[in-house]
Amino acid sequence: MNNKRAKFGSRFGVIAAVGGSVVGLGNIWRFPYLCGENGGAAFLIVYIAISFMIAIPIMLSEFAIGRSSRSNPMHAYSSLSKKRSWGLAGLLGIATSIVILSFYSVIAGWALEFLRESIADNFGGSSPEAIKSNLNTFINSGWRPLVWTLVFVIATGAVVLGGVEKGIERINKILMPLLFLILIGLVINSTTLSGFSDGVSFLFSPDFSKINGTVILKALGQAFFSLSLGMGSMIIYGSYIKRQERTMKLAATVSVTDVTVAVLSGLAIFPAVFSFGINPTSGPELIFLTLPNVFQQIPGGYFVSIIFFFLVFIAAITSSVSMMEVLTSYISEEMKIKRWVSTLMSVSLIFILGSLCALSQMDNSPLTIGGKSLFDVFDNFSATIMLPLGGLLSVIFCGWVMDKMVYKNELTNHGSYGLKLYPVIRFIVKFIAPVVISLLFMSLLGFI
Ligand code: TRP
Repeated sequence: MNNKRAKFGSRFGVIAAVGGSVVGLGNIWRFPYLCGENGGAAFLIVYIAISFMIAIPIMLSEFAIGRSSRSNPMHAYSSLSKKRSWGLAGLLGIATSIVILSFYSVIAGWALEFLRESIADNFGGSSPEAIKSNLNTFINSGWRPLVWTLVFVIATGAVVLGGVEKGIERINKILMPLLFLILIGLVINSTTLSGFSDGVSFLFSPDFSKINGTVILKALGQAFFSLSLGMGSMIIYGSYIKRQERTMKLAATVSVTDVTVAVLSGLAIFPAVFSFGINPTSGPELIFLTLPNVFQQIPGGYFVSIIFFFLVFIAAITSSVSMMEVLTSYISEEMKIKRWVSTLMSVSLIFILGSLCALSQMDNSPLTIGGKSLFDVFDNFSATIMLPLGGLLSVIFCGWVMDKMVYKNELTNHGSYGLKLYPVIRFIVKFIAPVVISLLFMSLLGFI
C-alpha cells in the first residue's frame, strides 16, 4: 500500500475531478445521438434506470478497489486478490482506454474545428444542407480532422503531465461550473424554438414497444460510458481519494449530475432537431448538424456558438484526461518509465489509432470491418462489449473475490456512515449486476 501516493486536495476538487471525468462527450455528443437512434424516451428511461440501479454500485466498487489498494487498476486487482491472473481485468481496462480515446479524440477534434469555424463566422447564413455538406467536406479532406485530433491528444497529454493536483484538479475546478451554466442557457433558448414540443415529447413520452435487448444493451453501454465505468478511470481516481471522503455521497452526486447533463443536452438538441428538419437518427454527426442552425437563429448566436464548442472541448478534455491517466500511470508504474516518457508514448499511440478512426469516416474508406467504419466499430465495440465486461469483472471481484471486510470498510468509512444502504449495494454488486450484465451478453450472443 502506497500512502505517499498523490491525493486530491479539497473536497470540491474531488467532486470536480470525478465530475469532470463523467461529464463529457458521452453526455453532450453520444447520449443525444444514441437516444435519437434508439427510440428517444424509451432509451432515456432504460438509461436512467441502469445509471441509478446498476451503475452507482459499480462506481462504488471501482472506488473501493482503487482506494483500498492505492494503485493502478492492474496492480490493484492482482494485489487485492493475491492472484496475478486478476491483473488481466486491469489490462482489459488499458485496452479499453486505448480504443475509447482513439475515437473520442476525433470527435473532440471536430469540436475544435467547429470552434474555429464559429470564430471565423463560417456558419452565418448557412442552410441546414450547407452545414451538412460543410461537415462532409471537412471529414473527406482527410488531413484536417487529423490536425485537430493531434491538437486534442497533445492537450490531454499536457494536462496529464501536470500531475494530479496541479493538472487535473485545477482545470476541472474552474471549468466544470462554467459548463453547467452555459448548458442551462442553451436549454432556455430551446423553449423559443418551433420544434420545442416535438423535441420534448420525443425525449419524454416513451414508446415502450421500442425497448428490446439491443436497446437495453446500448443503454447499459451508454450508462457505463457516461459514468466512466468499466475501464479503471474510477479505480485510478479512487486511488487518489482521501480516506475520510465519503464515496457513497460522491457517487450519488456525480451520477445525478451526469444524468442531468445528459437530459439537458437532449433538451438543447432535440427541439432543434425537429425545428430544422434534421433526422434524429443521423448518428455521430447529430449535434454537429443541429446546433450551428440554432446558433444562427438567436441574437448573439455568434458568441454562443463559440462558447458552446469551447464548452464541448472542455467537457471532452476533462474526461480524456481520466482515460489517459489510466494508460499513462500503468506504463510509468508497471514498466518503471518516467511519467513524461509514458505520456509521450500514450499520446503517440492514441494519435496513430485516432488518425485511422478519422480516416475511416471518409466516403469509400477501406478502413472498415464488416462494412462498418473503424470509427463506428471502436465506438460500438468499446461501449457495448468492453465496458460492460470490465464492469462485470469489477462487480464479480468486489462481490466474490475481494476481502468482504475491506470492501465494507471502504464503502462505509469503517462503519461510520451509510450502513443502511450497504446491504442493498452489496446485494446488487454480488447478484443483480452480474446477472443482468451476463443476461444481456447472452442475448447479444444469441443464447437467449
Ligand atoms: N464519461 C466520459 C464521457 O462521458 C468518458 C470517459 C472518461 C469514460 N473516462 C471513461 C468512458 C472511462 C468509459 C470509461 O465523455
